Amino acid sequence: MKWNFIHDLQRIYAYMDCLEENTIERDYPLIWERIHATSCAQIGRMLAEMRGVDTELAAITCALHDMGRWVSGRQNDHAPKGEEPVRRFLMEGTMDDDTREQIVQAVINHSKKDQVGSELEEIVKDADILDCYWYGEKIAKVHHAARLQRTLKDLGIHSLREG
Ligand SMILES: [Fe+2]
Repeated sequence: MKWNFIHDLQRIYAYMDCLEENTIERDYPLIWERIHATSCAQIGRMLAEMRGVDTELAAITCALHDMGRWVSGRQNDHAPKGEEPVRRFLMEGTMDDDTREQIVQAVINHSKKDQVGSELEEIVKDADILDCYWYGEKIAKVHHAARLQRTLKDLGIHSLREG
């Protein structure tokens, strides 16, 4: 078992438990944030395995990608707002500076879904879209739909239903 990652998820859930005490208005409830963080991590692993990227790096990056929204409660600008809390979260780990920076940059850039970034950033963007799609969110933006179709095709899934 990958206990390091499981312990990271435990820290993420504990972090969200603390956020439950804030009664700020939220665009998405924290239960969704927990589910999305967890399933994005697993989708990220799958994409990373396909693309020859470190699966555990992909998993933790995907798990943390919406941290800005966990904290602010709001979708608006949540990607760059994730920088500071993600840096703080990663300070407790043992990873090297370069790896930490790759994660932080992927979090900051994950909403730029009309652009192509690093391999890690692309995994986060694609995992994000796939997870939202599979949980029934309407994938309305044209570049989101294009990314979804491309990723499904890469996975050998051709039956694109109505979002
Ligand atoms: Fe996001």
